[in-house]
Amino acid sequence: MESIKVFCPATIANISCGFDVLGVALDSVGDEMLVKKTKEKGIHISKLEGQDLPLETLKNVAGVAGLALLEKSNYQGGFEIEIYKKIKAGSGIGSSAASSTGAVWAMNQLLNEPFSSLDLVKFAMEGERLASGVAHADNVAPALFGGFTLVRSYNPLDVITIPSPKQLFATVIHPQIEIKTSDSRKILKTNITLADGIKQWGNVGGLVAGLFKQDYDLIGRSLVDHIIEPVRSILIPSFDAVKKVTLQNGAIGCGISGSGPSIFSFSKGEETAKRVGIAMAEIYQNIGIDYDVHVSKINSEGIKILN
Ligand code: HSE
Repeated sequence: MESIKVFCPATIANISCGFDVLGVALDSVGDEMLVKKTKEKGIHISKLEGQDLPLETLKNVAGVAGLALLEKSNYQGGFEIEIYKKIKAGSGIGSSAASSTGAVWAMNQLLNEPFSSLDLVKFAMEGERLASGVAHADNVAPALFGGFTLVRSYNPLDVITIPSPKQLFATVIHPQIEIKTSDSRKILKTNITLADGIKQWGNVGGLVAGLFKQDYDLIGRSLVDHIIEPVRSILIPSFDAVKKVTLQNGAIGCGISGSGPSIFSFSKGEETAKRVGIAMAEIYQNIGIDYDVHVSKINSEGIKILN
């Protein structure tokens, strides 16, 4: 195989209580990438449509992640990449992770899979380091593995896949403002109280248990963030009002998607998820802020080959 076209899913990181450790892949929103083998060494990004992002290899997350893979590979050639962005940069649904993971996953396929999924997570994390200053894995892991993932440990890296309840749907609204992950990380406190820690790890355990047990009430009760949301939500217009209407319309829980400004909610069933999306949208219509809404089932496969 000399070239491959892939779908790279959007992802919701943190999932309220799991800052930097929990994430989930979406099914109906993601980027496309075409990756070709070249005789010339290195990574060449020949096309980037849909967003105004740099083509220079060392300034592009796909380029940097791809170089991390090449450094560990015996392959003597290189790759040319075309990126078709559907996920807006700075939206909070894993735009950089989609590009980083798509590049390394496609390259691994073209090289007959010399690397494990965990290796690919490590390479893609270099893209996240470029985008946000920190090599976090809570977007790249679900993009690569699909479904829900828990980064149990960063050193050594240990990623756990978690089953997705069949009727769980995500609704995501993206108010059209850009918040850079690097900026929204700078405002976070670096210390937490023991009291907040107790509440937070109780919810992480509850959420993971709820996903395994397919217990929607337990999932909903656990979608609480005592540490990050109170700080970051002030950057998101009408966050409290949006959260309130999601719950009034039947969502089981709601929080900031990744580093924002997107807001996600989970619902049992697609109908409820769609109703929640309409209610979220009305809030931004009323205050005159443009938005995108996505309703999606959980993507259990991660990156997919497109014909
Ligand atoms: N865990 C990261 C953060 C995700 O919240 O900063 C960024 O999308």
